[in-house]
Amino acid sequence: MFEISFIINHSNIEDILEKLEEIGLSSTYYETPFQVTIDNNGYGYYEKEDEDVLLKVYPDCESEDECLKVIDRIKNTLKLDEDINLSEINEGNWQEPFEPVDLKNGWVIGEPSLTLENYKKINFEPQGSFGTGLHETTQDMLRFILDLDFSDKKVLDLGAGSGILGIGAALKNAAKVVALDIRDVTMEVMHNAALNNLTNVEVLIKDVTKEKLEVKEKYDVVFINIGGEETLASMELINSVIESNGILLVSGLVEWSYEEVFKQIEVQGYSLVKKTKSNEWVTLFLQRSI
Ligand SMILES: C[S@@+](CC[C@H](N)C(=O)[O-])C[C@H]1O[C@@H](n2cnc3c(N)ncnc32)[C@H](O)[C@@H]1O
Repeated sequence: MFEISFIINHSNIEDILEKLEEIGLSSTYYETPFQVTIDNNGYGYYEKEDEDVLLKVYPDCESEDECLKVIDRIKNTLKLDEDINLSEINEGNWQEPFEPVDLKNGWVIGEPSLTLENYKKINFEPQGSFGTGLHETTQDMLRFILDLDFSDKKVLDLGAGSGILGIGAALKNAAKVVALDIRDVTMEVMHNAALNNLTNVEVLIKDVTKEKLEVKEKYDVVFINIGGEETLASMELINSVIESNGILLVSGLVEWSYEEVFKQIEVQGYSLVKKTKSNEWVTLFLQRSI
């Protein structure tokens, strides 16, 4: 397998990925540059817009010569003068960006080629968004989700990132999953959904804290793993779309402020079913009771 890589500015990433997709190059990987911040409400982070990132492209070519032609097409399409690197990678290197994650509940998150006896698997190829399954909050949410049966349930995944939480719910028989994020995560959510043969996952791009959600239907289950402040700012939206006995899973809370966040959610008609904590990260399983 060949890997073509070159430096681009993160502020142009969506435009570049779209143009590469138009010339048949949809298999890409880059690490989103995040800046972590700490405040009273826990940690926050933002994507660093004006930062250079290494974009890796995996073309479907058989020989170096073929790849050199692809590089010319990339240069023309993106109007790039910078150096473009070409390397041949073996199976081992290809696996390197993503080690399987054992959720310790009989499930693993792994690349499609991974086969493990006696495990159920979420097929997954990280594309750069948050939600590779490595973070404590993602893992704790998934352990709650994979323990449930979502038959006939409609699920709304707020701050979906890679879409992994919604994909987990769909693998546990959800009737429909809507994955919502402030960033355009459509390509990677749909890619990971397809790796799991799922056709009932949709993507919406919105800021949950600011925009109203145009909904024609209610959701039985809502996930939100963004942060305490964002969760509180989203409660009006959540209350308007969640069924009266709906389940709300909240993560991204930190131990020094989660009780305050919970109190403010509780008065809106939610009760605590269970809670889990990994390091400083707290995840709440809540049920609406109005
Ligand atoms: C901590 S990640 C969680 C990703 C994934 N759901 C998981 O559990 O691993 C938070 C996600 O929320 C998104 N996000 C942050 N602020 C948001 C907002 N105001 N509205 C919608 N999405 C937001 C980010 O782009 C990011 O993908």
